[in-house]
Amino acid sequence: MSPRDVRERRGVVIAIDGPAASGKSSTAQWVARELSIRHVDSGSLYRAATWAALLDAPDPGAWTPESVLAASSGIRLLPTSVSFVPFLDDVDLTEATRSATVTSQVSSVARMGEVRAWVNDCVRAVAKDHDVVVDGRDIGTAVFPDAGLKIFLVADPWERARRRLVQRLGRSPTEAEIAAETEWLVRRDAADATQTVQARDAILLDTTYLTQQEQVERIVALARAAFSELS
Ligand code: DC
Repeated sequence: MSPRDVRERRGVVIAIDGPAASGKSSTAQWVARELSIRHVDSGSLYRAATWAALLDAPDPGAWTPESVLAASSGIRLLPTSVSFVPFLDDVDLTEATRSATVTSQVSSVARMGEVRAWVNDCVRAVAKDHDVVVDGRDIGTAVFPDAGLKIFLVADPWERARRRLVQRLGRSPTEAEIAAETEWLVRRDAADATQTVQARDAILLDTTYLTQQEQVERIVALARAAFSELS
């Protein structure tokens, strides 16, 4: 089956949570492709809300949950052939929301309860009609506590920092670069700590010594065991 032939809804929800740079989104995307279902990156909605808030009022000190939600009111999760991504009118916001400015402000937006409720509603709405792999921080706890499969990905901060740098720089980073990135990641973990929660029934997968292909194979095997309709 090609990725374009995504499956109709049969009630499959796979939750993949974990800290920053644990490989959630790329792993979730790959798992979804293997299973011919769609991927939803819940973080992309927090990023889209932050992007919209910046456009509306460049000083984050002035933001309130109400102003962020008002700025985000036109944003929708729309389907591509393999995923759901945030759009404003007919513009795909994926690239815009990955800017350094958005990244530096998104944690404060993600701490706003009203914004969390909006993101959760958007994600639940698309999962009503489609089988999905959803990645985030609280998908297995707050968003889909009844998900049929929950994975919590972790990896050593040094290794997460190294992977981020390889992806960003396209070469092997130096020890000093990894050390600086690890410091940033540890600060980021602290900023997102309250939202990043492992469900009691999640399967913990430490990927420090796994390749991405190995992670994907493990999750796909767990998914096929958990959902007979995927075998
Ligand atoms: O995974 P990411 O870097 O794209 O996430 C962006 C921000 O959104 C980050 O601060 C964590 C937060 N987030 C969250 O609080 N809950 C989610 N389900 C997904 C992301």
